[in-house]
Amino acid sequence: MKKITINDLLTWKQEGRKFASVTAYDASFAQLFEQQNMPVMLVGDSLGMVLQGRNDTLPVTIDDIAYHTRSVRAGSPNSLLMADMPFMTFATPAQACENAAKLMRAGANMVKIEGGAWVAETISTLTQRAVPVCAHLGLTPQSVNIFGGYKVQGRNLDQAETMVNDAITLAQAGAQIIVLECVPASLAERITKAVDVPVIGIGAGNATDGQILVMHDMFGISANYMPKFSKNFLAETGDMRAAVTKYIEDVESGAFPGSQHTFE
Ligand code: KIV
Ligand code: NA
Repeated sequence: MKKITINDLLTWKQEGRKFASVTAYDASFAQLFEQQNMPVMLVGDSLGMVLQGRNDTLPVTIDDIAYHTRSVRAGSPNSLLMADMPFMTFATPAQACENAAKLMRAGANMVKIEGGAWVAETISTLTQRAVPVCAHLGLTPQSVNIFGGYKVQGRNLDQAETMVNDAITLAQAGAQIIVLECVPASLAERITKAVDVPVIGIGAGNATDGQILVMHDMFGISANYMPKFSKNFLAETGDMRAAVTKYIEDVESGAFPGSQHTFE
């Protein structure tokens, strides 16, 4: 696989070519994913749940993410590699700079930050200092204690308007990718059209520019349960490499996510 950059994703958005991405936490899977031409990988703070067996992502530290980012980069030299900024590691722009530097030094190409318009200042601070940022809107799992559970976001009109405006604000602040998690498909489509940057969805319907899955969900081996929006591609193919290829093909063709994986 040739080296993938943000410019490739922008071109694909402009050409209407959908792309897949997946979480990765170690060198072996990262290498397998790269061999199947997975263009984008994320060292997600979901590792708190799928690797550490916690109930939420709040215990994950910047050193946890840096450790796994080094591993993934070792296995995948060419993917566009994003790394999550964990809970409370970007409470202020200064803190965000210090912590983002650890992830960039570990091999990330971009950091991902959960939050609405309030993170705009942090995003512009980071991008001005050469740290590309992906903004994460909708069901932002670090806010589980504010939401009172893992619930679809943006279902009422006010919430939807706020999310559209937040996406525009964060793109203007310099965010180069937007991730939307667990939002109604029609809202995700609206946001995808409202911003020039690539939008990657998870539980956000199939009108976004790209899709992402937690790798354990893609293989159907998550410790707890299978979210409605995920699909076990290993069950369908019986082989890990074939499962990854099938996921990529189904995203590119628009077959995944189907209506059974989508919220309305
Ligand atoms: O941590 C993670 O895996 C994520 C994706 C679900 C987008 O943030
Ligand atoms: Na995350």
